[in-house]
Amino acid sequence: MKVTVVGAGNVGATCADVLAHREIANEIVLLDIKPGFAEGKALDIWQTAPINLYDSRTVGSTNDYAATANSDVVVITSGLPRKPGMSRDDLIATNAGIVKSVTENIVKYSPDAIIVIVSNPLDVMTYCAFLAAKVDCKKVFGMAGILDTARYRAFIASELNCSPKDIQAVLMGGHGDTMVPLPRYTTVGGIPVTELISEEKLKSIVDRTKTGGGEIVNLLGTSAWYAPGAAAAQMVEAIVRDQKRIFPVCALLNGEYGMKDIYLGVPVKLGKNGIEEIIELKLNDSEKALLESSATSVKEVMGVLDSMNLF
Ligand code: NAI
Ligand code: 2OP
Repeated sequence: MKVTVVGAGNVGATCADVLAHREIANEIVLLDIKPGFAEGKALDIWQTAPINLYDSRTVGSTNDYAATANSDVVVITSGLPRKPGMSRDDLIATNAGIVKSVTENIVKYSPDAIIVIVSNPLDVMTYCAFLAAKVDCKKVFGMAGILDTARYRAFIASELNCSPKDIQAVLMGGHGDTMVPLPRYTTVGGIPVTELISEEKLKSIVDRTKTGGGEIVNLLGTSAWYAPGAAAAQMVEAIVRDQKRIFPVCALLNGEYGMKDIYLGVPVKLGKNGIEEIIELKLNDSEKALLESSATSVKEVMGVLDSMNLF
């Protein structure tokens, strides 16, 4: 299996490192526009192989897409991260052009690849990549839900002082402060979380999850990378190993949840064909209202993309 990661910055290099270390792909190409940067990161990752005892090979490339040819999966992380005071949506002016040109180059050399978008603003950048790729929407989707759910699960594990392994949860909507964690669909070792944590405490965990990305930006001065890189690698693993895992993924809706022509986070089945099924939960009225309000926020940013006349 060959996997390309575009953008050798914080998230891209972390993702490549996890892919290599866990032998999710035997050939990993890291590509960046900054001269020598991807080559340097790839060499450093490769030099961990004798220590960490694996044989996946990571190579770097400065913007030479020939090196990415015939990739099975491509992860796109290229673009600016946010700084304190910025929202993810402030990044669109720069990142839309980057995601468009990167996707066009990727498809030229790997027309059959499955493409996972990470660049922000996530939902709209995934839509942008879909427009640029001109391939089946089941093969172009975005990573956010695994990260956001991981934050939610980690906060619950801290509150209950229990293993995060036992916490199962789903979260829907856009990758922004309007995301919709779903306590009704959250369990701890099979027990509904609502039986273990008070409504008030659960609400504060949900609120912290929604602003979880910003919390890290304020601490670090840039956005997170360990959990985002690991989350993207987990999606790649589900695809290359045809695991049929159920994850929240940013997918194109075509009537599901009563919505069309919008990329939004929903639970899906992920396997070798990409998105193999979108799962429709029976949301109650208040969950539906939250999802619709999140979709409205994503549509506003889609309007900004439209006004850029890139397509
Ligand atoms: P970073 O600045 O560390 O890395 C970005 C890399 O992209 C840089 O090395 C840069 O040289 C490269 N790049 C820029 N234009 C390029 C082009 N045309 N072709 C190839 N490479 C190019 O940023 P970081 O922290 O890795 O974040 C990357 C993106 O991922 C940001 O947009 C960030 O907001 C987003 N992100 C999304 C998350 C999600 O859950 N979807 C989570 C964390 C970050
Ligand atoms: C995050 O949620 C900024 O999207 C990035 O960490």
